[in-house]
Amino acid sequence: MNRRDFNSIMIGGLAASVLPRPRLSSQSQSDLRVNGDRINAHLAALSEFGKNPQGGVSRVAYSDADRSARARVMEWMRAAKLEPTIDYAGNIVGRRAGQNASLKPLVFGSHIDSVPSGGNYDGDVGTMSAIEVAQTLAEHGVATRHPIEVAIWQNEEGGLFGSRAVSGQLTAAELKTVSSSGKTVEEGIAFIGGDVAKLGQVKRRKGDIAGYIELHIEQGGKLAANKIDIGVVEGIVGIKRWDVTVTGFANHAGTTPMNERHDALLAASRFVEMVNRVVRSIPGGQVGTVGHIEAFPGAPNVIPGKVTCTLELRDLNDTKIDMMFARIAKEAKAIGGENGTQFAFSLIHVSEAAPSNPRMRAIISDAAKSLGLSSRDMPSGAGHDAQAIAQLAPMGMIFVPSIGGISHSPKEFSRPADITNGANVLLKAVIAADQALT
Ligand code: HGY
Ligand code: MN
Ligand code: MN
Repeated sequence: MNRRDFNSIMIGGLAASVLPRPRLSSQSQSDLRVNGDRINAHLAALSEFGKNPQGGVSRVAYSDADRSARARVMEWMRAAKLEPTIDYAGNIVGRRAGQNASLKPLVFGSHIDSVPSGGNYDGDVGTMSAIEVAQTLAEHGVATRHPIEVAIWQNEEGGLFGSRAVSGQLTAAELKTVSSSGKTVEEGIAFIGGDVAKLGQVKRRKGDIAGYIELHIEQGGKLAANKIDIGVVEGIVGIKRWDVTVTGFANHAGTTPMNERHDALLAASRFVEMVNRVVRSIPGGQVGTVGHIEAFPGAPNVIPGKVTCTLELRDLNDTKIDMMFARIAKEAKAIGGENGTQFAFSLIHVSEAAPSNPRMRAIISDAAKSLGLSSRDMPSGAGHDAQAIAQLAPMGMIFVPSIGGISHSPKEFSRPADITNGANVLLKAVIAADQALT
């Protein structure tokens, strides 16, 4: 039996299993659990889209693998009795009506695009679990008060493009950004079924969403190292990214004396070391990274006349990010002064730091406790769509352990049992939030 037969039988079986059943009492609702095997089977099937030889995925946004995976996930959403559509920004939204149409939707979801040579869990765990929560509710005839929306945000990895289109933070200039797929964001949105001309129509205002919950792998090692089942996210770091250009003077590598060079790569190398030194000199959990660097013209016998690189700074406090940048820019100028090179910075991405909602944290903590799971409050050093949606509604985030704290790598791994735990916490949190929120 080939994979397509397998999947069509699986989908057919899943669809047939979702039959309306008598409403559950609140007691039996509290006994409700997700089908963990189905989540983990979906994760395995999803990992085939963009599979790379290292065992992970390169399912970057707007790639063929991304588009094919999105089509398959929409099938799973239909089997879960959701009605999936693609909004003008290219986000997939699976809807189900609630009992009270005057209430705003309760939204939960994540993303399925990956970084180049990424892993099989980042975004995928939260997305597959969100679909499973909707399917479990449908299979047990649980009608929510609020309409529910399962959201699959497009191009999270490039910079929360889909969720920031909804929160109104996406700028026209960003549409020209060239994504990892080689397409501009504008071309990519069209490629996955969006319509940039109508982008403004996806924007939502504060209050248009009753609440947002996202399950995600921790991507760090605290939960696994301390054998804790669930992370209750206190807040998500702010992120700022710049394109950096170092301009020197290209010249002959053999005939130019060492004291007469304006070597852009030498200046850039000092810059990379300085960023690490400045960021580590300040107390706190902030981080700074130079993730990409390229020297031009890139020949062994030419002194590099230009270098382009990226700078990324993160912290829970946006003011601290700006303070660090000011120090880095000042020291870069001094480095340039030493060998006649110039530094230019162009801000290319901003995600504001976002505290989670205390009520949502309590709902998530209580959900973990009711399941007999250990939990701890913790910040998120990774960025997430939840920080964009936090601009619109009370936000909560649930973490499950990443083994070895590895992420953005084919070595990324979360245990099936931990994923099932996280999905059950999401299920209970959705039910509780549906009852608690107006
Ligand atoms: O980069 C991040 O923090 C997220 O995984 N996209
Ligand atoms: Mn992610
Ligand atoms: Mn990621």
